[in-house]
Amino acid sequence: MNTRRVLAVGRTESGKSYYLRNAICRRSPRVLHLDVMGEAHKEASPRAVQVEGLRATLDALVVAADYTRWDIWAFIREPDQLQALATRLVYKPTLAEPSLAELLGGLVLECSEVSTLAPLRGTPPDVSGLWSWGRHRGLSIAAATQHPALCDVRVRAMSEYVVLFTLTDAASLRWVRENMGEELVPVVRRLPQGRGVRVEMGTGRAVEFGRDWQLLREWKLGGTPRLSGNLRDG
Ligand SMILES: Nc1ncnc2c1ncn2[C@@H]1O[C@H](COP(=O)(O)OP(=O)(O)O)[C@@H](O)[C@H]1O
Ligand SMILES: [Mg+2]
Repeated sequence: MNTRRVLAVGRTESGKSYYLRNAICRRSPRVLHLDVMGEAHKEASPRAVQVEGLRATLDALVVAADYTRWDIWAFIREPDQLQALATRLVYKPTLAEPSLAELLGGLVLECSEVSTLAPLRGTPPDVSGLWSWGRHRGLSIAAATQHPALCDVRVRAMSEYVVLFTLTDAASLRWVRENMGEELVPVVRRLPQGRGVRVEMGTGRAVEFGRDWQLLREWKLGGTPRLSGNLRDG
């Protein structure tokens, strides 16, 4: 199964969720929206299933396993429940037993604020495993954060694409400078809502796109040591 990991970074209202839901999730027949802030539910379509808490989410996923297309919006706030969901999604207790992600035939997990799910310090291995093990189990991830400097570094390191929307706070701009390259700092400061820069982490290829996804420019980022998608800094 082909999977991919995308990390959208930008301040609140910059266009992260709009991009992830319309440019990424919409292409997939199976999407689990993980709302850790209690803010995303209102954007669910009328056909979407909305659940709250781990138990209800797992029940909904078990029902969903009989269908090829579904859209589930889960509101889960408690860290131990988020960890348990991560474990169920990608952990493989034995080689013979498939993970839930595999049983579901692959899915996209959309996460509304990744610094809550996978914080800089104390992210459980099963949660970072969504990014590392999930790739072999049919799990794609469309994650967003307005606090990139507060996220587990493995999230950035395991993401093939980082999509930058506007950022203005000092900590995030420093994160851009140190992780994405100095030249992007003035660019992200002035991006209007909905406009972004998609960086392919393996190659440093950058694409600036407009509100309707139109290509505005394309270039190769100058040398930055932290572009490759491996775990050197983890
Ligand atoms: N490319 C776009 N085209 C049209 N509307 C957009 C676009 N990007 C964002 N918006 C609108 O701007 C608002 C904020 O976007 P949102 O994606 O929710 O921000 P974030 O997730 O970064 O807080 C929403 O009302 C959304 O519909
Ligand atoms: Mg959002």
